[in-house]
Amino acid sequence: MDFFVRSGQPGSFKTGCLILGVFADGKLDERGQQIDKASKGLLRELGRRGDLPKEPGGTLMVTDPRGLAAHRLLLVGCGKPAAFSIKSLRSATTAAAVELAAVGAADAISLLSCKDVDAYTIARHGGEALAGAFYRFDLLKTGTKRPAPKLKRFGMMVDSTTDRRHAKRGLEHASAIAAGSAAARELANLPANHCTPTHLANFARKLAAGDKAMKVKILGEAEMRKLKMGSLLSVTAGAVEPAKLIVLEYKGKGAKSSAPVALVGKGVTFDTGGICLKPPPGMDEMKFDMGGAAGVLGTMTAIAQLRPPINVVAIIPACENMPSGTATRPGDVVRSMSGKTIEILNTDAEGRLILCDALTYARRYKPAAVVDVATLTGACVIALGHHLTGLMSKDDKLAAELLAAGEQAQDRAWRMPVEEDYNKELRSNFADFANVAGREGGAVTAACFLSRFTEGLSWAHLDIAGTAWRSGRAKGATGRPVGLLVQFLLSRAGTG
Ligand code: BES
Ligand code: MN
Ligand code: ZN
Repeated sequence: MDFFVRSGQPGSFKTGCLILGVFADGKLDERGQQIDKASKGLLRELGRRGDLPKEPGGTLMVTDPRGLAAHRLLLVGCGKPAAFSIKSLRSATTAAAVELAAVGAADAISLLSCKDVDAYTIARHGGEALAGAFYRFDLLKTGTKRPAPKLKRFGMMVDSTTDRRHAKRGLEHASAIAAGSAAARELANLPANHCTPTHLANFARKLAAGDKAMKVKILGEAEMRKLKMGSLLSVTAGAVEPAKLIVLEYKGKGAKSSAPVALVGKGVTFDTGGICLKPPPGMDEMKFDMGGAAGVLGTMTAIAQLRPPINVVAIIPACENMPSGTATRPGDVVRSMSGKTIEILNTDAEGRLILCDALTYARRYKPAAVVDVATLTGACVIALGHHLTGLMSKDDKLAAELLAAGEQAQDRAWRMPVEEDYNKELRSNFADFANVAGREGGAVTAACFLSRFTEGLSWAHLDIAGTAWRSGRAKGATGRPVGLLVQFLLSRAGTG
């Protein structure tokens, strides 16, 4: 998708489709008035007849609108003007995208705007929402594929030359975040017989190939053994598919030798639960259990495009969690890379077992901050549902940064505690501690487990179990938290 900005009289924009917001109170905003004037009262006429969309997200497509240079005018309901936010702008754009795809317009210009919001933000979220709505996962379908979307160029209207500059930057960021988020969705949607640890490793290799700022290193099981990653290896013990530890470094120009931000992503390409086998209903969705890895690789995809002056290292432990004669048993005690011993009381709490060794490995980079991203607990879904990502950190400053990034990116998180009272629940009679506590507060005790491997680091944990994918009819990966992570890195680099 090519993005561009446009200024001037919207009535004279030559385009396949103009997108205009109409509000529930029937009043036209400035752009609406311009369109109404150029079309000799078309909007007021439609309003009098009661034909304008009333509900937020409702649409009306007018073909060959009189007086306008555009082939079509798409009116999108925006609800009450006072309640119209950036979030509403995103949903209005998504609603418009559905109609654009249906008519097969090759280009479009959006006049959607949001009062008191800067041009950068409007363009950024308009572009992101538009591109996100055009994402399709058709790779594995043969025969009756949905026709590929025809939209090639998408413009946003701006009012002034300064706005033009800001909006251009917003669209640049939108384009990179959309590419990163689409990459994450593609990897996560790909089933486990296609998206293996080796597939994830190859993705990282391709991303680094030909990019001087990127360096990739893939560790196999023999190297993990040498590093004494007994915890990670215990998870892959039952699998035939080889495990990989993927390390992808990005060195930003101008960031010199400053300490990197480490992003650690859970890459369980399929989670059966292991010997503590999960029940069949919904087990297919455990192909999404590499959503953390996908989010981190998607973020690196966006970073490769944006090239901010910051150093980043992505560390992805990738494996399958399978039951077999060689699988780890409940009660087994393993020794993690840190030297700490773990009693594995539940083989289905495997995410933390691969993350702890990856977190220990991250120490060699002396990172300025470490953020791990994981579809870690069903308990987080019970606590927060599907709207907000769980954020746990003992570092108030880092937590505030991540919350603000989520807010700015419209990819929000909610902070939950990591405290000693919960941490104590991991006690074990047979090892330093166990990999699980009781059912209650399961998202927090999981974070406490990780906190035992991150002492002295500026560390945060994102539990994306509820936000990385959707179930039901719209089943599929969301691309979260690419928006949040890219924003976090841009803000740290001072370029976003
Ligand atoms: N990958 C799952 C977490 C999960 C479950 C995410 C459902 C999204 C939806 C994780 O490996 C897991 O199985 N966690 C267990 C932990 C428990 C055994 C302490 C869980 O949440 O049930
Ligand atoms: Mn599990
Ligand atoms: Zn899992």
